[in-house]
Amino acid sequence: MEKLVPGLEGVPIMESEVGFIDGQKGILEYRGIPIEVLAEKSSYEEVSYLLLWGKLPTREEMAKFDHDLRTHRRVKYRIIDLMKCLPENGHPMDALQAAVAALGMFYPAKLEASGVPPGTNILTMEQHYWSIIRLIAKLPTIVAAFERMRHGDEPVRPRDDLAHAANFLWMLTGEEPDPLDVHILDVCLMLHAEHTMNASTFSGLVVGSTLADPYTMVSSAIGALTGPLHGGANEQALRMFREIKTVENVRPYIKGKLERKEKIMGVGHRVYKVKDPRATALQGLARHLFDAKGEHPLYKVAQEVEQVINEHVGAKGIASNVDFYSGVVYDKLGIHIDQFTPIFAIARVAGWLAHWVEELRNNRIFRPDQVYTGTHDVAYASIEQRQ
Ligand code: ACO
Repeated sequence: MEKLVPGLEGVPIMESEVGFIDGQKGILEYRGIPIEVLAEKSSYEEVSYLLLWGKLPTREEMAKFDHDLRTHRRVKYRIIDLMKCLPENGHPMDALQAAVAALGMFYPAKLEASGVPPGTNILTMEQHYWSIIRLIAKLPTIVAAFERMRHGDEPVRPRDDLAHAANFLWMLTGEEPDPLDVHILDVCLMLHAEHTMNASTFSGLVVGSTLADPYTMVSSAIGALTGPLHGGANEQALRMFREIKTVENVRPYIKGKLERKEKIMGVGHRVYKVKDPRATALQGLARHLFDAKGEHPLYKVAQEVEQVINEHVGAKGIASNVDFYSGVVYDKLGIHIDQFTPIFAIARVAGWLAHWVEELRNNRIFRPDQVYTGTHDVAYASIEQRQ
């Protein structure tokens, strides 16, 4: 009988040069560069280039990429109309997934059934270059437009004179973004841009392997990211801190959950067995933000949760993940709780696309196996005979 590996834990599904994680040491690298270095020195646009092209851009390369992104932020009015038809109390991730799937109908980018010959650099293929640009450039516009419309406001047009993070904050509020808020969001986008073979990337790759278009590929990855065990955990972590309310409540609350074998959101990871380096970076960002703009009322609650988790299950390798501190940071930036996962998607689209590009250079359709546990030769009972 075939050996079943639930959740494909530890099973490599392809070779990749995009990202690297050492879960024992808490290391995350994009194309070999530690995430901490990128967070300090780079920008989301540059990190996207790095992930896609495998190298840091020259000044000229960066200028072209940045220009292309800035000039493709607008979305067609029919996409806006489509989102107007969606329920305002629906989750913004569902709206994002629907809008991105619809984008593919406006910008057909089907791959030929004969596929892309192995070794072809699809980034030199005109059509796919523009699909990549459109997806990275338009996701923030879609998220901000839905957020405004469901609160009864008109969408705010993107501005070409602003960088990626600044333009998103502008489109959310219609106000000139604060430079510190822009910096914090830019770092958050870099920290979320790529994370090797996680559920959403894998989901995108499965769809990509069928030679579906990149919009369909990204919409499937967005769908996977909605789940509370994946990207949805950032929302759940902040909701938990709100429910706990005070530092005194933390210990009994967490102990109770652990005794009932309930999951604590924002902690635990399939790969990291120590604190996620992105959680460390986000905690540093949170401190920086709170020092400048005042404490977040739930930051101390979060710290105490981390302490109690360390005491009780730290030895099992359960520690804070990326979703633990991102919520208090976004909340302090005035971003609504159900925007947290869409912001994750805005960032991760670069990673999804980088893996897709890599996949198409040597594509093989995913068709895994199963362990059949059903029966055989069952007699067909007529409807009168059925119990
Ligand atoms: N709270 C309490 N206990 C936990 C948690 C948690 N969050 N995570 C794992 N454990 C425990 C399990 O109960 C299990 O204990 P046992 O051995 O006594 O049965 C052990 O640790 C192993 O847990 P698994 O669920 O098998 O670990 P897995 O690798 O399948 O799960 C996952 C990883 C899904 C992320 C899990 O840790 C979890 O549900 N965390 C909460 C949700 C979350 O924060 N998700 C975001 C992850 S990061 C990202 O996707 C962006």
